[in-house]
Amino acid sequence: MTDRPQREHRDLLAITDFTRPELEALFDLAERMRTGRYRRTPLAGKSLAMIFFKSSTRTRVSFEVGAFQLGAHPLMLSPRDIQLGRGEPIADTARVLSRMVDGIMVRTYAHAEVEELALHADVPVINGLTDLQHPCQILADLLTVRQHLGTWQGKRIAWIGDGNNMANSWLDAAAVLGFELALACPEGYDPDAACLSRAREATTVTLTREPAEAISGAHVVNTDVWASMGHEEETKARLSAFEGYTVNAAMMARADAGAIFLHCLPAHRGEEVTSDVIDGPQSRVWDEAENRLHAQKAVLAVLMGDEKLPA
Ligand code: CP
Ligand code: NVA
Repeated sequence: MTDRPQREHRDLLAITDFTRPELEALFDLAERMRTGRYRRTPLAGKSLAMIFFKSSTRTRVSFEVGAFQLGAHPLMLSPRDIQLGRGEPIADTARVLSRMVDGIMVRTYAHAEVEELALHADVPVINGLTDLQHPCQILADLLTVRQHLGTWQGKRIAWIGDGNNMANSWLDAAAVLGFELALACPEGYDPDAACLSRAREATTVTLTREPAEAISGAHVVNTDVWASMGHEEETKARLSAFEGYTVNAAMMARADAGAIFLHCLPAHRGEEVTSDVIDGPQSRVWDEAENRLHAQKAVLAVLMGDEKLPA
């Protein structure tokens, strides 16, 4: 098929692409970046293609700025502008981009599209969100947990709301890192069954219909919008299905006294979270957003640069 030898590379499609020691080393590197102790430009002269089939503020800006800070040139490729948006096959796009750039970040709907891209690319592919997974956000969230609570080990992490891409990536993180995860999702909105069973084999995972039960004693409280991108037309039905799932002050009072609140953003105040919680003293959402930059720079430095993770 190709007259060019495959370049050795690895992808980040899901948290489970990394082992526990690799993730720990990745967080050490991200922490050096967060605290300004990392000054290298291991991506000098390289290019990162960024394809967005869905809107983005944090992912787009953090990858673009992160690539620049590491010495790379980021290319924003909107499907409206490139031939992929007119039906050029994903596989052909992967082959062509691999001849010109050193890494591809993609945000799209079906997870299978990212897998297809990775299958045919011979440069690293990074998942910037699919309907199934949002691994880059979970890396930032774990960095925030480490920043504010020291560690996730021995902590109880609660997920209140939709069993969506974020919930699935939290399950993957629990499977690899072994912390306790307590989910509360309404019936019909459970997380992905494969992610759930993999995490249950590895650690303590509970799934309840009672948000008060999941949040009880939690050290980290997470939620997300009730209608993710691509589900906007279900908003009305979801508003009624998620009644009672709003993270408010009364709900937060059930968590550990030192609990932090996380939300990947964008947020709908008054729906999944009240203003007094997301804008209150336990909220760490702005650090969480900033940590997208540091966590992803660590990923880029490893996948596209010469930073190494333990074998
Ligand atoms: N949290 C997150 O991925 O935000 P964006 O959709 O703005 O990238
Ligand atoms: N679950 C949300 C996350 C947005 C960053 C979505 O997929 O729209």
